[in-house]
Amino acid sequence: MELNGKVMVTGGAGYIGSHAVLALLDAGYEVVVIDNLVTGFAWAVDSRATLVEANVADDDAVRGAIRDHDVRAILHFAGSVVVPESVSDPLKYYRNNTAATRALLESAVSEGVPHFIFSSTAATYGTPAKVPVQEGDPTVPINPYGMSKLMTEAMLRDVAVAHPINYCALRYFNVAGADPQGRSGQSTIGATHLIKIAVEAATGKRDAVSVFGTDFDTADGTGVRDYIHVSDLAAAHVAALERLIENPDESLTLNCGYGRGFSVNEVLDAVDRVTNLTIQRRYEGRRAGDPAALIADNAAIFAALPWRPQYDDLDTIVRDALSWERGLAERAQP
Ligand code: UFG
Repeated sequence: MELNGKVMVTGGAGYIGSHAVLALLDAGYEVVVIDNLVTGFAWAVDSRATLVEANVADDDAVRGAIRDHDVRAILHFAGSVVVPESVSDPLKYYRNNTAATRALLESAVSEGVPHFIFSSTAATYGTPAKVPVQEGDPTVPINPYGMSKLMTEAMLRDVAVAHPINYCALRYFNVAGADPQGRSGQSTIGATHLIKIAVEAATGKRDAVSVFGTDFDTADGTGVRDYIHVSDLAAAHVAALERLIENPDESLTLNCGYGRGFSVNEVLDAVDRVTNLTIQRRYEGRRAGDPAALIADNAAIFAALPWRPQYDDLDTIVRDALSWERGLAERAQP
C-alpha cells in the first residue's frame, strides 16, 4: 500500500506498540517511533525504525518529527494502562491519555496528517449487559482508564468531521503473548495482567498466582476474558491502516478480540499444560471494578478488514508469553 511517507508510532517502545512497529516494518512501511521511555524500552524498538525520545504532548518535538519524516499516518499507543492506578490517580489518566491525545491530534491536524489509529479498549463498555459485546452497545466505563479512552474516541469523532483526517479506534480486549519470532514481548515492570503474572510464576519470579474472585456468574465462578495474541492485534493495525488509506472519507471503531472467553482457571490450566508445572493458585476475593465476563463480538472487524487471526489458540499465546519471559529471566541473571 502506497503511503508516500512514514508511519509514526507513539508508544512504539512499549509492549503492544513494539509489536506494531514489527508488523509495519515487516509489511514494508517506514516507521518513526515517539516514546518518552517512561515505561517503554529503547531496546524494544526494532533497529529499522527511528526512535525519537519525546512526549506525545511535546508539540515542537512531534511536529518536527512529522515534518522531518513526512509522516502520513499516526498509530497512537502511548498512554497509561493500569486500571486500579486510574482509580487512585485519575488526573494522571486524563493527562496521559485524554489531554496528551488532544495535543497529539492538534499536531496531526496542523501538519495535515491524514490517518490516525487509536488504541482504545474494551474498558469503554464498563460492565456490559450482555456478551459478546458489540461496538454499538452502550459505553459506560466503570473506571477513569476507560473514561479517558472513551473521551478520546469522542474527540476523534469530532476532529474527523472538522478536518481532513480519518481514524480507526480499535477497542482491544485482553492482549497477551509475544512475537512468535522472539523479537519482542511484554517486559513491563510490575505487571498486573494475568498471563504475564502466570508466566512470571512459571519462571520462578513469583511463588503463586492470585485468582481474584470465585463467585462470578460464570461457568467456574472465575472471571472470563477474551485473550488476543499481541501479534494478531499488531496485524489488525496494519490492516486498519490500509483500509484508512483506501477510504479517506471513512472512520471506524472496531472490537479486537477472538469472540470467545476463557476463565482465570482455564488460563492457569493452559499455563500448567504448557509448562508441565502446577502453578500454585491463591483463591482470593474479587478485585475492585472487575466485570464477570468480557468477550468481543468481532463481526465488524471481520467485515471491515481482511484481517484473520493467526494465533487464536490459548496454548500458543501462553507458549509465546512463556518463551519471552524465559528470555527476560536469562537476561536478568548476573
Ligand atoms: N486476574 C487474576 N489474578 C491476577 C491478575 C488478573 O485472577 O493476578 C484476573 C482478573 O480478575 C480478570 C482476569 O484475570 O478476571 C484478567 O485480568 P487482567 O488484569 O489480565 O486484565 P483486565 O481484564 O483487568 O484488563 C484488561 C486490560 C485493560 C482493559 C481491560 C478491559 O488490561 O487495559 O482488559 O476491561 F481496560
